[in-house]
Amino acid sequence: MTGGGGRKGRRKIRRSAISPYTMRAAASLSRRAFAPSSRCRTLATLAGPGSGSGSGSEKAPTEKRKRFSYDEDLLKVFAANKKWMKRMTAEDADFFTKLGAPQTPDFMYIGCADSRVPANEIMGMGAGEVFVHRNVANLVVSTDLSMLSCLQYAVEVLKVKHIVVAGHHGCGGVQQAMKNESLGTIDAWLGNIRDIYRIHHAELDAIEDEDARFRRLVELNTVEQCLNLYKTGIVQAQRLKSWSDPEEPFAYPRIHALVFDPSVGELTKLNVDFRAKISRFQHIYDLHGVPDFENDGHGGAGAPSEKGEKDDFQHFMLRKDGSKE
Ligand code: CO
Repeated sequence: MTGGGGRKGRRKIRRSAISPYTMRAAASLSRRAFAPSSRCRTLATLAGPGSGSGSGSEKAPTEKRKRFSYDEDLLKVFAANKKWMKRMTAEDADFFTKLGAPQTPDFMYIGCADSRVPANEIMGMGAGEVFVHRNVANLVVSTDLSMLSCLQYAVEVLKVKHIVVAGHHGCGGVQQAMKNESLGTIDAWLGNIRDIYRIHHAELDAIEDEDARFRRLVELNTVEQCLNLYKTGIVQAQRLKSWSDPEEPFAYPRIHALVFDPSVGELTKLNVDFRAKISRFQHIYDLHGVPDFENDGHGGAGAPSEKGEKDDFQHFMLRKDGSKE
């Protein structure tokens, strides 16, 4: 009874709400909301090199309206969605039946919000294969509830075997952090990258070429974010738990420092001995020394395995079902 009346009432309100005045006001608001303010122009520097920051404000008014025609933009999105649905169903008739089932990804990906770095695509993974968290400059900040919530869910519920931290060359966030310049709100976030510059200032300041220094900071930032992951109680507890479980083939999640170069499309793994790094600072962080069978020199904290399986490279590569990665 109330349902029918309520729907009618709401419909009435909606019709009356769309008055010419409201439409004009909404259009004006949306123009204002999308118009580049002076702050937006400054933040445009985060788009990275070659973004043409500032040039957008010089466009003619008609061109600007066309650019921000959100109705047209959305129509394109829905048309593309329909095409994608069609393509995926043509490739696999059960695709969406499988996608509707609970997710079981082996990977968590922490990457930059940069639009040029699509997580799934650069790893050749489809929907359902990677749990993604992205922010400016792929940071792992211990007080970031969003990151921690994603991490906890990925590690404790999804039980991902790998966490990839993917930095990328040309990162506007890292580049901005190298400048002695304030942008307002984002300064607090970029301060985390400046801290990394401070930790590694001797190495970075010795690099004369600015671009080379920028590229090195992208790498160091990625490595430091991996170390930040190792420092979380979430990761430590799961690695200890999986190591103690005789049914588990290796301690996980394993953490990998990767860097993507948008200009060539290549994703590479940084050669980092996390075990050595963590051992070096054990007196400061008191991290669990969890052996993890990893001897490729690329990842994993902890002392060498007491079971003598440290050198058994194949062993830690085995998955639960016995198949190899
Ligand atoms: Co970036």
